[in-house]
Amino acid sequence: MINTMYERFAHEYAIHAEDSAYNALYDRPAVLGLAGDVAGLSVFDAACGPGLYAAELLDRGARVTGCDASPTFVEMTSARTEGRADVRVHDLSRPLTWVRDGSCDLVVLALALHYIDDRVALLSELRRILAPRGALVISTEHPTMSWLRLGGSYFTQEPVEESLNPDRDWPIRAWRRPLTSICAEFRAAGFVIEELLEPRPVPEMADRYPEDHASLEALPAFIAFRLIPAAPR
Ligand SMILES: C[S@@+](CC[C@H](N)C(=O)[O-])C[C@H]1O[C@@H](n2cnc3c(N)ncnc32)[C@H](O)[C@@H]1O
Repeated sequence: MINTMYERFAHEYAIHAEDSAYNALYDRPAVLGLAGDVAGLSVFDAACGPGLYAAELLDRGARVTGCDASPTFVEMTSARTEGRADVRVHDLSRPLTWVRDGSCDLVVLALALHYIDDRVALLSELRRILAPRGALVISTEHPTMSWLRLGGSYFTQEPVEESLNPDRDWPIRAWRRPLTSICAEFRAAGFVIEELLEPRPVPEMADRYPEDHASLEALPAFIAFRLIPAAPR
């Protein structure tokens, strides 16, 4: 059965993500910075959401394919990109049978890895579709942030049901886990970390969202990685 977690609040989320402090001025600049120059690259946008990444990647000269579990988000991505991105409804818990081995120069998986139960299986599948010199750029909740919000032991590893946004009823189920586990999953799937980034808010946030800016200057909400395939031994 397809995971339709975001369907209930897809339209509200799309409006929020377009210009929010955490998405527009924090996550996207960090992930796109790690992606580097994408002109001419074949990019797979895994969990594309409302298409904000897909549109930006196309504008920067990439060819974009992608997927999301939410049919509403896939429709939004097609509309936002005027059909220039080949996006499909697909649950990332399942193999990407429609994507050829080694066919992507870059995979972007922004703010979605924590929703997947078998993350090593997904990461291995993303490794399969990557070209040998390709890269996978991931952002996810910073484990310190999860620990401060949820309490208990920092080392707890479990799925948590809560609202994505404390001010709204946006129910989600996401994994909390320590940094050691996140990195061990990368290694188990055949990746090494080329770069780890604890993003800082872009300067514009100080004027537009001063409270978020102060909070994100004190504590990272997300953590981002650029991963590359490990060399064969
Ligand atoms: C926080 S949103 C991020 C969307 C987009 N990457 C962005 O940053 O704008 C998380 C996305 O993950 C998708 N998602 C969650 N679980 C999924 C799954 N099992 N397979 C595919 N997509 C999934 C949701 O539908 C949603 O679009």
